[in-house]
Amino acid sequence: MRNGIIACAVLIAVIYLPFVTGLHHGFLLIDVGLILLGLVISAVLGRQGDMARQLFKSTSELQQQTKHLKLEITERMKAEKEIRSLSIGAIETLVFALEAKDKYSAGHSRRVTFFATAIGNKLNLSDQDMEDLRYGSLLHDVGKIAVDQPVQNKITRLTPNEYAHIMGHVQAGADIVKPVVNSKVVGLIEHHHDRYDGGNQQQSVTGINIPLGARIIAVADAFDAMTSNRPYRSAMSTGQAVKEIRNFTGTQFDPAVVDAFLKIPPDEINAILENKNEN
Ligand SMILES: [Fe+2]
Repeated sequence: MRNGIIACAVLIAVIYLPFVTGLHHGFLLIDVGLILLGLVISAVLGRQGDMARQLFKSTSELQQQTKHLKLEITERMKAEKEIRSLSIGAIETLVFALEAKDKYSAGHSRRVTFFATAIGNKLNLSDQDMEDLRYGSLLHDVGKIAVDQPVQNKITRLTPNEYAHIMGHVQAGADIVKPVVNSKVVGLIEHHHDRYDGGNQQQSVTGINIPLGARIIAVADAFDAMTSNRPYRSAMSTGQAVKEIRNFTGTQFDPAVVDAFLKIPPDEINAILENKNEN
């Protein structure tokens, strides 16, 4: 509006300049017409200017609001990530405490995680799949907190009921971690005892329908278990355990995962196994 008034004032000044200077020759009607035209133009320009300013103001406000909203979302996501990380850390601590009580399983989940991520690297998993695999491996046996110790440490053959009780750790573990990890990690824990050929009666999927991370954990878990002392047997050598893994390729284990496992350099395997079975 202000620009319109200025334009109008300039127009009037230009028109009446001849009167002031004495150079006017009687074109009053034309002048009046020009003044009216100037007023109309100024009104239109002023109106358009107001609308443009209003639009600019609204756009700026919207941009500010969007910026605030983005900041708020980022802050909230950061806070949620921190809370999730703390919760996972607490569950990991629970696993390590549980394993530390038993000399036969001390450090098991950490070693399984090292083996599983080494296999994952050989299979070129994505960053997200590697992160899921790491959490799945660390937490795969957390459900053992629900298993009775006498059954867990039994030296003689398990009865079918005792075996079912121990295998209940799979679902118990999935239930424990569900509130703090994504559904893929839950799936890795749920399926880590599935056999590739579907030989386990409890499993709902077979072959490549078993989540890849669970097929990886199955090999890593079995290898670490075989190379560890147990109440009912001594640890196998690395060579014997590798032979066993080969023997069960295509039945218990996914051949592609076994191939990847066999590509891990012996030095890396020995480094992971170092310091175990010292008790
Ligand atoms: Fe397990």
